[in-house]
Amino acid sequence: MVNEITVVDDYGHHPVEIRATLEAARGCKFNRLLVLFQPHRYSRTQHLWDEFCRAFNQADILVLLDIYAASEAPIPGVTSEALATAIRKAGHKNVHYFRSMQEGIEYLLKQACPGTPSLRLARATSAAPAVNSWFCWERRIRRRMRISDPIIVATLAEMNVELQHGAALADLTSLGIGGTTDLLRIRKHESLPGLLKLLDANDVQHKFLGGGSNLLVGDGELPWVVLQLVRPEPDVVLDGSFARVDAAADLGRMITFCAKHDLGGMEGLIGVPGTVGGALRMNAGAYGMQIGSYVREVKLYRAASRTLETLRGDQISFEYRHTSFAPDDMMLSVILELPSKPFKLILEGIRICNEKRRSSQPLGQKSAGCIFKNPPGASAGRMIDELGLKGLSVGDARVSDRHANFFVNAGHASATDMLRLIADVRERVQKNYGVELENEVVVWNA
Ligand code: EPU
Repeated sequence: MVNEITVVDDYGHHPVEIRATLEAARGCKFNRLLVLFQPHRYSRTQHLWDEFCRAFNQADILVLLDIYAASEAPIPGVTSEALATAIRKAGHKNVHYFRSMQEGIEYLLKQACPGTPSLRLARATSAAPAVNSWFCWERRIRRRMRISDPIIVATLAEMNVELQHGAALADLTSLGIGGTTDLLRIRKHESLPGLLKLLDANDVQHKFLGGGSNLLVGDGELPWVVLQLVRPEPDVVLDGSFARVDAAADLGRMITFCAKHDLGGMEGLIGVPGTVGGALRMNAGAYGMQIGSYVREVKLYRAASRTLETLRGDQISFEYRHTSFAPDDMMLSVILELPSKPFKLILEGIRICNEKRRSSQPLGQKSAGCIFKNPPGASAGRMIDELGLKGLSVGDARVSDRHANFFVNAGHASATDMLRLIADVRERVQKNYGVELENEVVVWNA
């Protein structure tokens, strides 16, 4: 750590590694992520060009240096300068190319800490033949707080943001678990940049809440406020085969509305609770389909640029229960392109999916859907079931008797109970199958 800057030197070269590192760094709540990257080998840069264009979405500032040849001959057109242009075209707002490593480092240091030359660091790094370094601003320790300052309260009202003091998140999540904090309900997307600026300036940490259906929130007084979009009326507007949908729209109601206008494709998602924004963020899927396949455009508040941005579908990576959005990006609206299908046929698809769901999932109970992602080629639910863990409990947190990857709140479970149950099951699966299960549920722990 130098002054207020944490410098992380990472050797990841592949776009997937880069994305994972940046995602982890974003999760650490650094104020900004400043990235210096030197692509490794011409051939790799050429083969993974498109992936590189999306790998840095979560960096606030990206500096690219010349490609490190590693004994390869240059390939015409494959240069860092051209890559910088391509990344800009793919939507990144702050990309710079420097021929000299020294200049690149000094540029980033100036951005990170204006007026503080740190030549010692620059020299040390420039001595290395190749570099993949992440420069991050240090996280500020923020104090727990509720919004009581009358100036902030008045500014929120001017922004048309509704403030609810001491909201119980247990009431806003499908698990029925979670402590209390202030809830800010946003009526106009346009107020977000100003709102976030206000919160930042007053050291108020925040989280974005969608439908709360895939979420486990910590207990007690929470150290951040929660932002939530108010659903507008109408929340779905159709134009031919395109549906423009507000992120706050209910997923199931949106699917039914489109079905009534002979637009289908998303029947499998009908029983998935939550908002369209939540489904989009984690690329919700079921019965062989996923929402990402239909996305043509997304409007979002982009944490990296602190602005509202519009991304084309091909600028976003949609993978199994994962997207290239940053954890602190907020989905605002989406344009979906849906195949036309007669209402009757869609209804039949919906009926079949509903039946399958009803027969295998504990729909009437408080849950967050599947707790773990399925590991490649395997089923988390089947593994947990095979270990005889259905019914295993910690307090009122319980592995469902109906589907072993659903953990239910059978009464007054606390987040601590649920987290202990998750850790216990994960450990048993690891011990017996050698597989480390990854959470599907999002955990907001204090
Ligand atoms: N199985 C068991 N015991 C159990 C649960 C499942 O033996 O307790 C077996 C089933 O018999 C089946 C296999 O495991 O042979 C897979 O089960 P299932 O068809 O229920 O699918 P899943 O992989 O457990 C996935 C999604 C669900 C989605 C269904 C239907 C994940 C983590 N889960 O479940 O999504 O509804 O397929 O497409 O990808 C969610 O995302 O929260 C969710 C519930």
